[in-house]
Amino acid sequence: MSKITVIHGPNLNLLGMREPSLYGSETLATINQRLEETIESAGHEFEAYQSNAEHELVDKVQSAIPDTAFIIINPGAFTHTSIALRDAFLGVQIPFIEVHLSNVDSREEFRRHSFFADIAVGSIIGLGPQGYLLAAQAALSRVEVA
Ligand code: DQA
Repeated sequence: MSKITVIHGPNLNLLGMREPSLYGSETLATINQRLEETIESAGHEFEAYQSNAEHELVDKVQSAIPDTAFIIINPGAFTHTSIALRDAFLGVQIPFIEVHLSNVDSREEFRRHSFFADIAVGSIIGLGPQGYLLAAQAALSRVEVA
């Protein structure tokens, strides 16, 4: 059994009411529940965490060792700004997938740069909540061969 941790960055607690034309109408609780079912029914441990604070997200990534085998993260706006969170991933060396609900490449120019894309196992963008489930499947296939 491996542990997969899903981390949601700032403002993702507002999913459901936040710019639904961009982010859809599903709440974070619904997304987490589906991830929990997917990961636990595959026989693995699931944990979800959300914070609006950069230092709390850094702390969460740091505290993921030694228990967490794989991280799925939507860093929200910190995607485009946070060298500190990038450094946390480089520090712990836990493999991760970056997820974005919206297609960040089709939006403002400043959303096109990610501080995570080049160090992630992969990125899933623009597929809404389904992106998290696809990331979970990819994470499961990786922890199962590990
Ligand atoms: C987001 C895209 C980011 O640019 C934005 O700041 C978010 C959400 C997404 O899931 O599409 O908060 O990460």
